[in-house]
Amino acid sequence: MRLKGKTTIVTGAATGFGSGIARRFAEEGANVVLADINDAEGEKLAGDINGQGGGRARYQRANVTRRAEVDAVVAFAEKTFGGLDVMVANAGIGQRPVPFEQTTEAAYDRLFDVNVKGVFHCCQAALPALRRRGPGSNIIVTVSAVVFTVRPKLVAYAATKGAAFILTRSLALELAAEQIRVNALCPAAGYTPMLAEFMGGAETADVRALWEQAIPMKGLITPKDMGDAAVFLASSEARMVTGVCLPVDGGRTL
Ligand SMILES: NC(=O)c1ccc[n+]([C@@H]2O[C@H](COP(=O)([O-])OP(=O)(O)OC[C@H]3O[C@@H](n4cnc5c(N)ncnc54)[C@H](O)[C@@H]3O)[C@@H](O)[C@H]2O)c1
Repeated sequence: MRLKGKTTIVTGAATGFGSGIARRFAEEGANVVLADINDAEGEKLAGDINGQGGGRARYQRANVTRRAEVDAVVAFAEKTFGGLDVMVANAGIGQRPVPFEQTTEAAYDRLFDVNVKGVFHCCQAALPALRRRGPGSNIIVTVSAVVFTVRPKLVAYAATKGAAFILTRSLALELAAEQIRVNALCPAAGYTPMLAEFMGGAETADVRALWEQAIPMKGLITPKDMGDAAVFLASSEARMVTGVCLPVDGGRTL
């Protein structure tokens, strides 16, 4: 119960890494607002979490590219659970591998809209509520191991994660004196629905096996792995940890 009594928002919580983070937060006693655009999966996860005991969960639709919807989620968290302790800006979209010169402006705009402006909105919208809560409140951003080990044919996606990485570190310094921490998680490829996108549109067992072998610890990252790391960063055990971009990658970036 390392997060007992804490209120958290997890964006992109309906599936993948976000669902693992939300589940682990609730297991540790946190109340969780699940924010996503996938209503069916979001509502289902809220039901699952509420059936397990631990912290409570509520689903609230929010497209992170729209500031008013992110503001509404923060207001919902404060009204429903009495405050906000942790914002997890996890929502993101992937990219199918494509040579740089074939990356369309529309794809670039969409990637930056969700993966960078979405994070910007989440941090800015959460900050007044985190300040009301005071020292110890914190932000976690899901970045990517791609910021340490770049890949070909994912230039636009990687650039969005580079921006989110520097946003995290800059904001951590700006808020440090207020004891509000800002950290990032940098996962390698994971067992999530996004994997298919990185594999060109369809997940295949052969490619998955190759990718699993490419990770020194053999195997991809699970939503629970991300949840476990996020619990640490969100908890008071990480009291003096800010501005870090924690690889959760089985040694991939070594
Ligand atoms: N899966 C990987 O291999 C991998 C590796 C490194 C980093 N990441 C990052 O992890 C994060 C989570 O991805 P995932 O792998 O769990 O993928 P996922 O597709 O399972 O989850 C992403 C979630 O974000 C939601 N979402 C998408 N656009 C949104 C928007 N505009 N507003 C609100 N919600 C939105 C989706 O509905 C989905 O539930 C992303 O930021 C992604 O870039 C993933």
